[in-house]
Amino acid sequence: MAREQWDNRTAFILAAIGSAIGLGNIWRFPFVCYQNGGGAFLIAYIVALLTTGIPLLIIEFGLGHKMEGASPLAFSKINKKLEWFGWIPVLIGFMIVTYYSVIMAYCTKYGIASITQAYAQNPSDFFFKETLGITSGPFKFGGFTKQFIWLTIALLVSWVWIVFSVWKGAKTVSKVVYFTVFIPWLLLIVFVVRGMTLPGAMDGLTYYLAPTFSKLLDPQVWLAAYTQIFFSLSVGFGVMIAYSSFLPRKTDLINNAFIIGFADALTAFVGGLAVFGALGYHAHSLGTTVDKLGDIAGPGLAFVTYPSIISNLPFAPLFGVLFFLMLLTLAIDSAFSIVEGLTASIIDKWKVSHFKANLTVSSTAFIIGLVFCTGAGLYWLDILDHFMNYLALGVSVLCCCIFVGWGYGADKIKEYANSISEFGVGKWWEISIKYFTPILLVILIGSEFIRRAKGSYENYGRLPESLGGWLIIILIVIAGYFLYKSKGKD
Ligand code: PFF
Repeated sequence: MAREQWDNRTAFILAAIGSAIGLGNIWRFPFVCYQNGGGAFLIAYIVALLTTGIPLLIIEFGLGHKMEGASPLAFSKINKKLEWFGWIPVLIGFMIVTYYSVIMAYCTKYGIASITQAYAQNPSDFFFKETLGITSGPFKFGGFTKQFIWLTIALLVSWVWIVFSVWKGAKTVSKVVYFTVFIPWLLLIVFVVRGMTLPGAMDGLTYYLAPTFSKLLDPQVWLAAYTQIFFSLSVGFGVMIAYSSFLPRKTDLINNAFIIGFADALTAFVGGLAVFGALGYHAHSLGTTVDKLGDIAGPGLAFVTYPSIISNLPFAPLFGVLFFLMLLTLAIDSAFSIVEGLTASIIDKWKVSHFKANLTVSSTAFIIGLVFCTGAGLYWLDILDHFMNYLALGVSVLCCCIFVGWGYGADKIKEYANSISEFGVGKWWEISIKYFTPILLVILIGSEFIRRAKGSYENYGRLPESLGGWLIIILIVIAGYFLYKSKGKD
């Protein structure tokens, strides 16, 4: 079976940018930035981008392209036994897309609610009660409430959209990304201009951009910057390995990695302008300062604070619909990139049709996602998100550095990537892959272990954390083993 291919270089760059730019840029980045010292965080973020983000993009591109395979096949070409480790990133991605698609479902609900401004009266109640029907704890699922049914239908809509966007693999994605990358960018510009011209916006921007340098001495800030880079660039999920395997033999890897890395960081930065401008305005209208706005971390920013800001603007329904359309179009190409990463892995191994693989992956993810539509859904979403991004992802990237950087040889990947790229990378790249990134990851993973030993995440308690965090990680490792052991088709 001939390998799928991108229509052209632009299609690949847009698809990779589309994967990287997602809810992480607009929903996660601004509040991680806000919590970690505003402007000071930007410095840590740029350092993280240059020292590990772009080097990791290059190793994933080099591996996928050289081995002509998605993650499991690419790893198995280094050594048959390593196929096991090749499954782990795509399975982590799979767990992420189960809840990422539910956040898209929230956006659909909010896009519709924007028309009547249903959230204007009490944005917090609208989110927690009307949308989620949130219960008092992780084990109280709440039954078949109207919220559950609503979210399930919206989740189904997310999945139908995802399935069609990757219908014929890279061929379809090549076309879809022109819409899913440019539409959110255009909308983002609208929100930046609107956000920055609101009264009080400057206070928000000052908080965002004026660095508190002392924060850079806090290791927590660096931890946040590096984990945000992994999530944001979609490295460690096998997505970029699969995407680069669809490139023609004559191509460029390194320049592409820089373009994609900078486009992603720029979007997060610009997203921050829109968000902090609006937060400044919000604080101004409440007669307080940005640092005193308590409830903007986590989903509260996109689904409580922002809707409340929008509902106070002239033309609120229009801005509401556009805002949630922006989030949806940002999210869709990230979601389908994960599906493509796993679908391509399945096709590599069992040579099934794209249709079959796509449908199997998507319907399974939809079914798992139903948990997050229940009244306890947000608790499980939060736990899973934390464990996947702070632990599983770190281990996955570490495996890549060890098995590819040391086992196969970072020098070989470097030579290969340099030989086909417009410009090459030097010794610094090998140092990042073989020493800097792995050491950093060991510190990050170690510090997370210590934190978890001291207390359960967000005080959810040990049992929910064990089931939604640790158990899932163990299951991913076991599932990876079974997939590796099961007989493929040559
Ligand atoms: N990079 C995406 C974001 O910033 O929202 C999220 C993401 C996409 C994570 C693809 C993982 C992935 F494989």
